[in-house]
Amino acid sequence: MKIVTAVAPVNIAVIKYWGKRDETLILPINDSISCTLATDFMCAKTTIMASPTFTDNKFWLNNEEVDFNNKRLNNCLTEVKKRASPKCADLLNWKIHICSENNFPTAAGLASSAAGYACLVSTLAALYEVEGDISSIARRGSGSACRSIHGGFVWWQKGVQPGGEDSVAVQIAPASHWPEMRMIILVVSDDQKKYSSTSGMKTSVETSELLKYRSEMVVPKRVKEMVEAIKTRNFENFARITMQDSNQFHAVCLDTYPPCFYMNDVSRSVVELVHSYNKYKGATKVAYTCDAGPNVCLYLLEESIDEVVTLINDVFPSSVGPSEYFRGLPVNIKNRGGLQEVLKIKADAPGSLKYIIHTKLGDGPKLSTEK
Ligand code: DP6
Repeated sequence: MKIVTAVAPVNIAVIKYWGKRDETLILPINDSISCTLATDFMCAKTTIMASPTFTDNKFWLNNEEVDFNNKRLNNCLTEVKKRASPKCADLLNWKIHICSENNFPTAAGLASSAAGYACLVSTLAALYEVEGDISSIARRGSGSACRSIHGGFVWWQKGVQPGGEDSVAVQIAPASHWPEMRMIILVVSDDQKKYSSTSGMKTSVETSELLKYRSEMVVPKRVKEMVEAIKTRNFENFARITMQDSNQFHAVCLDTYPPCFYMNDVSRSVVELVHSYNKYKGATKVAYTCDAGPNVCLYLLEESIDEVVTLINDVFPSSVGPSEYFRGLPVNIKNRGGLQEVLKIKADAPGSLKYIIHTKLGDGPKLSTEK
């Protein structure tokens, strides 16, 4: 019997991946960049047991047994096994039992598939003692998963080879490079999303002219600017590009036929709030970004946390009590003098948030092995 456990992080893109040039190999039409979140508050955890006495392969996801006969899971398993260490020859014939869980809502636009597949592939790679880059294997589970293989700031390079050998994720800088960076995740809804990223981006590739323009004319330039902003810790540029890219991604979703609506009135009022807060501060202090769902991730520096959380708390009274309101890192709620101007937006705020998570940058997957 061999047992391996891994924990893997969520990543939130600041330059979005949207659109594949190869559906089976999961090869993207453009590069993307993301930040990896600390695993303390949001992560996936996978344990795999391999035993010569198991008669079947089995898979449990969030405590429910699911069909092992899943294409993406099997693609990852096949790729890992191809690269197994010669030391693991016997193990290759043993059946495996996989147990995976997320400590946050699955499929609510909270990057659960990214953490899930990064975790699965890291665990499988440890089980079969695979050496070298595994981001191209995680990519076969879910495109965005390849970025969760590294910590800090991560760049998924689309690559040019038809087989995808050069479509890999690389680290731009570790989490320690910009320790003041913080994220606040505003959970607007934890319901299952209406249209999956996979089918949404397929329809976008088939129908959106804006997506073609974005991938060829906009993203290459934006990626260069973003890498530079990260390397030089230029928050103003980092934040501006993040917001512009989120907006363009959602514009592509509207340009898709039929359109995909991911953001809702609450997400849009957060966008307005961020712009009025930045105007009130006279500088870009906060950035927003939304993926394929209504939840919003804010990027900001530690110095802005208390004031921004106070503001969010005032504008969007949460349905949960104050003590449970902030999961994650602590926040000192100060008195809100001076924010009245920004708070005017409260009159138009259309709803409340489920909860918010305050977190920071983190490292890649972590492993533990027992034999
Ligand atoms: C909007 O990685 O979930 O979050 O490759 O089909 O599994 P598949 O798609 P997925 O798409 C993520 C899209 C996004 C943007 C991003 O994370 O870059």
